Amino acid sequence: MSASTVIIRPARAVQGVVRIPGDKSISHRYAMLSAIARGISRFHNFSAARDCASTLGCMRQLGAEWRRADDGAIEVDGIGSALTAPSAALDCGNSGSTMRMLSGILAGQPFTSELFGDESLSRRPMARIIKPLSEMGATIASSDSGRPPLKIHGGPLRAIHYRPEVASAQVKSCVLFAGLFADGETIVEEPIRTRDHGELALRAFGAEVEHTGNVASIHGGHALTALEARVPGDLSSAAFFLCAAALFPGSQLSLPGILMNPTRARLLDILIQMGLKVAVGQIEQHHGELVGSIEVHGDAWKGGTIAGADTAALIDEIPVLAAIAPFSQNGLEVRDAKELRVKESDRIAAVATNLRKMGADLEERPDGLRIPGQQKLHGAELDSFGDHRIAMAFAVAALRAQGETTILNADAAGVSYPTFFEDLHSIATD
Ligand code: S3P
Repeated sequence: MSASTVIIRPARAVQGVVRIPGDKSISHRYAMLSAIARGISRFHNFSAARDCASTLGCMRQLGAEWRRADDGAIEVDGIGSALTAPSAALDCGNSGSTMRMLSGILAGQPFTSELFGDESLSRRPMARIIKPLSEMGATIASSDSGRPPLKIHGGPLRAIHYRPEVASAQVKSCVLFAGLFADGETIVEEPIRTRDHGELALRAFGAEVEHTGNVASIHGGHALTALEARVPGDLSSAAFFLCAAALFPGSQLSLPGILMNPTRARLLDILIQMGLKVAVGQIEQHHGELVGSIEVHGDAWKGGTIAGADTAALIDEIPVLAAIAPFSQNGLEVRDAKELRVKESDRIAAVATNLRKMGADLEERPDGLRIPGQQKLHGAELDSFGDHRIAMAFAVAALRAQGETTILNADAAGVSYPTFFEDLHSIATD
């Protein structure tokens, strides 16, 4: 068995406190913007995710040095808006966020840069950022049909009013980051409002940003200044533990210091609707981001439907909600989720394959899944398909299966949550 195989044994309950690492989406944005700010930025609870290490690696190649301070904070030496031309291609690893958002900054630089990624990232669509950045004046070459690697000839940019076809916060941040280097006001008008971490981070670094509803805008030409901030715990990582609690009536978990940004926290409303008892306290605001402590109690898990704007708001949490759906009373229906097919893996196919291996009955659809409830699953040998969220989602489902579950390529979890399996083990009682 490979070093990255993990075995999960059934549990009777989950109980305890989990300290969730810093949010991945915010950490990426802070790392990128601190590099192009003036002065030294410091980030406490910066994400330990491999994806964020990819971003930090790229920023170092672009001239921004960083280090881990004695207190664990990440310190970045900002070099201002003019980055250094990299001497080699930039390795984005598995991280779509790195490639898509960094491209916005590179489009405004007076040099040529190349970005590449691993096998999974090399399959992911980049036309969604090539189109707006080209309209702004950058020249971008890609492989067939807009896949990585990318070669970006940056330069002076013009402001645009962009209406993306897909609702994507990565695309929105990419265009707003490019807007920093454009003359005038760049506007992004989304089909559905997505997470607003890019807007909040830009403002925290001193950019002139406005956003209301699904429209965000930025005035170019303003310098950014360094920031000291604490990154809130990642709600998408917390989702695995919230779903673990949902599996066992009577379970109780405390998750302190979790991101409560309303553009992400729809998850909590849906979990409450589906039967979890959730209490949030100690709400604070840090640089525009809301943070709070979550207490959850498992109760009767009902399941339900996720569709439309909710699908976009819960896109990263659908794999785990689907993985536990067979244990619900009424099952789960997921609609309008064809974006899930172009994530780190085809997450609709990966969920369907693994659930079927555990003995579940379900219907796979082009844009979603229908998973009946009140099923009994057995342990099985499952694959992560190299996808962090699939590895973690099935580790959670395996807690309620009969018999052991083996997860192959489980180290994929480190892409967003390197200590996930230890943390899951620490709260599971057998
Ligand atoms: C992210 C946005 C989402 C999400 C991803 C992180 C972000 O992707 O799935 O994990 O940080 O902006 P899309 O922008 O492709 O929807």
